[in-house]
Amino acid sequence: MTEATAPILLFDSGVGGLSVLAEVRAQLPDAPIIYAADNAGLPYGSKTEAQIAARVAGLLGRMTERYRPRLVCIACNTASTIALGMVREVLEVPIVGTVPAIKPAAALTETGTIGLLGTEATIRQGYVDRLEAEFAQGKHLLRFGAPELVAAAEAKLRGESVDPAIFARAAAGLRDQPGGDAIDTVVLACTHFPLVERELAEAFGPAVRFVHGAPGIARRIVHLTEGQDFVRQATDLALFTRDGADVAELSATLQNYRLLRIEIL
Ligand code: DGL
Repeated sequence: MTEATAPILLFDSGVGGLSVLAEVRAQLPDAPIIYAADNAGLPYGSKTEAQIAARVAGLLGRMTERYRPRLVCIACNTASTIALGMVREVLEVPIVGTVPAIKPAAALTETGTIGLLGTEATIRQGYVDRLEAEFAQGKHLLRFGAPELVAAAEAKLRGESVDPAIFARAAAGLRDQPGGDAIDTVVLACTHFPLVERELAEAFGPAVRFVHGAPGIARRIVHLTEGQDFVRQATDLALFTRDGADVAELSATLQNYRLLRIEIL
């Protein structure tokens, strides 16, 4: 039987998974949470598949041993598209991944042209090719790797101002591809990107809508924990893999997300 105090652990390279946490909180307000950010490994998007798989498997192994979560959510598209299968094989705890929301985008597009913004590592994954083949048949999917948006989301949540040119470049990266003018739906295939959705909406203009996976992930977590009790013994925890100025600078954001304790792994 699952202990009522056992937390749900959300994992990302940085603050991106907070976009998923917001949805989990909305659907499971009583669930004790550990939000884990591998800030020592950030950004994942410029790493190799082997580096990402080794980091994610190693860290989740240590974290699950230490904190005994009832469920782990890999709240990171890059880590999920590369390491989800492998992590599921080595850990016994249920694992929910983050899959680029191509299926809902394909259902929404009216022009039939979808844009996908992700990290460089995510957009080259066979996992994305398979989602495209399965759910976007007959549609046109254009991809663009936008690592600048990861840094922009991190900076925004540290309270820094961010150059609007970054968002304009992300929009141009999709629009300037052949057929890009017809994009009416953009998949935010990196959990950092919903954190800058307002800025992206300004850059893309009103004809484009955005789709991301967080609501679906939260529903999946609700489903997998159905019938379980939730008791929060202490305030929720933010866990980092390295101490540093970035952790201190995020303190206002962590408080906004009600992560009131900080530990370093
Ligand atoms: N938040 C991550 C994602 O969903 C990755 C950002 C990064 O570390 O490059 O892909």
